[in-house]
Amino acid sequence: MERLDKYLADAGAGTRSEVKNLIRKGRVTVGGAKATKPETKVSGEEPVCLDGNPVKKAPEHVYYMLYKPAGVITATEDTREKTVMDLLPPDLPGLTAARRAKLFPVGRLDKDTEGLLLVTDDGALAHALLSPAKHVEKEYYAEIEGTLCADAEERFRSGIDIGDEKMTLPADLIRISDTQISVILHEGRFHQVKRMVEACGARVTYLKRLRMGSLVLPDDMNPGEWRHIFL
Ligand code: URA
Repeated sequence: MERLDKYLADAGAGTRSEVKNLIRKGRVTVGGAKATKPETKVSGEEPVCLDGNPVKKAPEHVYYMLYKPAGVITATEDTREKTVMDLLPPDLPGLTAARRAKLFPVGRLDKDTEGLLLVTDDGALAHALLSPAKHVEKEYYAEIEGTLCADAEERFRSGIDIGDEKMTLPADLIRISDTQISVILHEGRFHQVKRMVEACGARVTYLKRLRMGSLVLPDDMNPGEWRHIFL
């Protein structure tokens, strides 16, 4: 149950004070009956109407898929650098300014890394996608220079000491060619792909995230583009 004025404001019917006025003026009905008190509790089950037009309940959480380009940092704000949040328009359809301000990127891609990034206000989902305990796959395509050691696949699979407290979790390395690889991680440590590749004797020159769990970066998306998605 939530307050009627919050329900209406979240649904984009106006600011909190604007919707309070609308309610007091008798322009809002809940379940067909006029509701004149902003504090009236609504469950979202009964139809809420403004001037007779249904006002749909705002979704509990929102999700945006971003194709992060290189050169943009993964942060919510920065005084100097362009952030991934700047890739989304200030006015997202159906989202109030207060809700937009709660959006954050799920996990971090380096400034020079491209690819799939999820932006949401769903903390629980973010935790589930990032927690190493949940083993959600993160798939990357990388271009490398230098030569990977002969047993690199085996080293990725058994875990590598990259100077952290713990070894890396088992990961997959597939050689596409001498200079192209595919990597699947189940965790997301700082510079992890780059550091694992380096530990195996080569250097990442280009990195792109293709997938997080079942969320795949679509082929027809371009760097800098975003999409509202429904999970
Ligand atoms: N691994 C990296 O090295 N960098 C990223 O941005 C993501 C994974």
